Amino acid sequence: MEFTGKKLYSAVQPTNNLTIGNYLGAIKQWVGLQEEYDCTFAIANMHAITVRQEPANLRKKTLELLALYIACGVDPEKCTLYLQSHVPCHAELAWVLNTFTYVGEMERMTQFKDKSAKHADNINMGLMDYPVLMAADILLYQADVVPVGLDQRQHLEITRDIAIRFNNIYSPTFTVPEGLYMKVGAKIADLSDPSKKMSKSAENPNGSIFLTDDRDTVLRKFKRAVTDSGNEVRFDPENKPGVSNLLSIYSVFSDKSIAEAEADFAGKGYGDFKLAVGEAVADKLAPIQAEQARLLSDKAYLDNVLASGAEKAYRTAKKTLAKVYKKIGFYQL
Ligand code: TYM
Repeated sequence: MEFTGKKLYSAVQPTNNLTIGNYLGAIKQWVGLQEEYDCTFAIANMHAITVRQEPANLRKKTLELLALYIACGVDPEKCTLYLQSHVPCHAELAWVLNTFTYVGEMERMTQFKDKSAKHADNINMGLMDYPVLMAADILLYQADVVPVGLDQRQHLEITRDIAIRFNNIYSPTFTVPEGLYMKVGAKIADLSDPSKKMSKSAENPNGSIFLTDDRDTVLRKFKRAVTDSGNEVRFDPENKPGVSNLLSIYSVFSDKSIAEAEADFAGKGYGDFKLAVGEAVADKLAPIQAEQARLLSDKAYLDNVLASGAEKAYRTAKKTLAKVYKKIGFYQL
C-alpha cells in the first residue's frame, strides 16, 4: 500500500470494555490504513462524560485504551495518538459549530434518542451536543476519511452538513470528510439478539465479546450464541441473522472471505461452527491482551506517547481554529 498523504481521523470513547464490534468496525481497519494515510487517532474522553463516569475509572480506561490501540498494531511512530481533553481546540471549535447546527437536527439523531431513553435521568446538553463535538474533532484535522462502524454514519453525515454549511457561508475552510466502512465487520450484532448491535454497554454481557474476555469466556459466549432452527451455515443476513453475524466475525478474525468461511463449514453442524468461531476469536485476542498488559506496566512510555501526540495534534488543530476565528470575525491581537 502506498502512502497517499491524505488525512485520516478516528476516535473511540474510553468507556466500559471494548467489544470485538469496536475492534472490527474501527481499530482493526486503522492498522492497515496507517500505511496509506496520515493518521490521527484520539481517545474521546470528552465524549465519554456525556454519560456519568466514575473519575478514577475514566482515568484507568484512558490508559487501557491507549495501550489497546498500540497492542492492536496502531503505531505511535507513524500516527498521532492523543487524548481529546489535552487539546483545548475541540471544545473551542465545538462552540463555534454549535451556532451552525440546528436543535432539530440534533434531536433527530438516533444515538441521542437511544441514549436519552437509556439515561432518562441525565439527558444533559452534552448528550445532545455530542455530534457537534465529533464534527469539531474531525474538522479540526481537515480529515479526508473517517473509518468508523455503521452506527456512526449519521454523525458523519451531520459533520459533512456542518462543514458544507460553514464553507458556503464563508469560503472553503474545512475538508468535507468521507466515512470509511468495512465491507464485513462494520455492524457486528449482539450474540444473544442479532437484531441489536454488539455494544460496550449492553445489559446482557453474554451478547458481547469483550476484548478483555479470556479464552473460556469467549468459547462459552459463542457456544450460547443465538442461531436459528436450521442447520446450514450460510450467509443470509435477512433470514439467518445470527449465523451471518457469526460468519462475518469468523471471516474477519481468520482473514478469509465470506465464501471461504462458508466453505469451511459445509456439511458441519452449528456446534462445530460456533466452536471454530470462538477459537478464531480467542486465538487473535490472546496476544493483544498480553501486549496490552505489557504496555500498561510501562506508564512512562504511555505518558510519553500522549505528550508528544498532544503536541502534534495541537499544532494542527490550532491552525484550523485560527482560520475559523478569523473568518467569523473574532478580533485578533
Ligand atoms: P464508540 O466509542 O461508541 O465506538 C468506537 C468505534 O467502534 C465502532 N462500533 C462498531 N462497529 C461495528 N460493529 C459494532 N457493533 C460496533 N459498535 C461500535 C463505532 O462505529 C466506532 O467507530 N462517537 C464515537 C467516537 C468519536 C469519533 C470521533 C469517531 C468521537 N469523535 C471522531 C470518529 C471521528 C463513538 O462513540 O464511538
